[in-house]
Amino acid sequence: MIEAGQPTELFIGGDWLPTERTFPVADPANGRQLCAVADAGPEHALAALDAACAAAADWAATPAARRADILRTAYEALLGRREEIARLITLEMGKPIAEARGEVDYGAGFFRWFADGAGRLHLDGGYGHEPGGQYRILTAHRPVGPSLLITPWNFPLAMGTRKIGAALAAGCTAILKPAEQTPLTALLLADVLREAGVPGGVVNVLSTTDAAGVTEPLLADPRLRKLSFTGSTRVGKLLLEKAARGVLRTSMELGGNAALLVFDDADLDTAVEGAMVAKLRNGGESCVAANRIYVQSGIRAAFTERFTERMTASVCGHGLEPGTTLGPMIDERQRTKVADLVADAVRGGARVLGEGTVPQDSEGFFYPATVLTDIPQDAALRTEEIFGPVAAIYSFDEETEALAYANDTPFGLASYVFTGDVSRAMRVAEALDTGMTGINRGVVSNPAAPFGGVKESGLGREGGGQGIEEYLETKYIGL
Ligand code: SIN
Repeated sequence: MIEAGQPTELFIGGDWLPTERTFPVADPANGRQLCAVADAGPEHALAALDAACAAAADWAATPAARRADILRTAYEALLGRREEIARLITLEMGKPIAEARGEVDYGAGFFRWFADGAGRLHLDGGYGHEPGGQYRILTAHRPVGPSLLITPWNFPLAMGTRKIGAALAAGCTAILKPAEQTPLTALLLADVLREAGVPGGVVNVLSTTDAAGVTEPLLADPRLRKLSFTGSTRVGKLLLEKAARGVLRTSMELGGNAALLVFDDADLDTAVEGAMVAKLRNGGESCVAANRIYVQSGIRAAFTERFTERMTASVCGHGLEPGTTLGPMIDERQRTKVADLVADAVRGGARVLGEGTVPQDSEGFFYPATVLTDIPQDAALRTEEIFGPVAAIYSFDEETEALAYANDTPFGLASYVFTGDVSRAMRVAEALDTGMTGINRGVVSNPAAPFGGVKESGLGREGGGQGIEEYLETKYIGL
């Protein structure tokens, strides 16, 4: 099932390191074990930090053009191994192979984007005179230092490349801790980077079942200078508390509760297509997934009927089977969480407008694409991130009402607007309290765009021009 040569050991200081303990990685579509990987503990975390610190000065001093060349080589290597990596993503995470190929393109794209950014770094900086004319003010950038990168299971490649690309371009060394469910893609990525010429110690990868045991000694060590985390707001807050003790630079890409607004003047086909992607991309297991779909009264019946038809026609199965459009959920815990949210809403009076099918007699963690409406006021589905293939449809009459609903959440990551009126599109997008808004489109993610949220959805941006700045300090010299 897994390619021969798939790395399964820790990657520290440019070497593969076995551990006494290992843990199994399973295929969520059938529960079968794919292989066992090394299980890092606190001692490995500190060995990785030693390696990252030992490599830090040389990597920071490596000419930016050389760092760019290495990232470019890694970009090409990822695309050259597209099929193998996509298959691995599907096997350990579950998404349909077509989406996994899309993730390889998206993930590799961060290396290309940051290679270009690294190449331009030497041009950044300022030269001027202080207003009194007494002396000069020179500014330059330098890498923030050894960085801990913690990635989730939903995009096993792209969340790694988004962080590693920016860190390496800026001249930082890194320790990557991938999610316990999906370490294989991260370990393969380490191998790709090694082959592309990344020197030993610049990137270190720790697969582990002991997230706290690995991250806590790192966060407590003054040599670590940066934490970048993608995951839930709950865990993000705990990590922020720990990071505060060492006054670490932090980038936090946390939970969402994205609203998708469909106005009467929207093109119906575009709105249905956009809502499908915003809801079902990655099986809904994404922090930018449409969590609440608000539809204006005039288009509500037509939109709901078409959208429900499309949702329930999803083909649920193993992601490697041709024709599958919806894979399994990542594990039993996640499936139970989604099932509980639906059960709670239905108990309170929500109506199920449609439910797709799932494979029978399967050990996989499948959950059917489901459409709900009449969600009760107190249902957890209104406020919690669903992270699954369940669409909740609400209605509104006025634009102001839609905006009030959409912004009534502590989260502020993504939002979507479907309308045929450009003035309305801009007015609503500007009033939506989110870091990102898609207009007449259900995907906003792009390496060239700043990804991130406001309020409890996070701090900082990844990708875009801002992504690299998260790994840079500004140094001022008065002369
Ligand atoms: C996420 O769900 O955490 C990231 C989604 C994306 O990059 O599109």
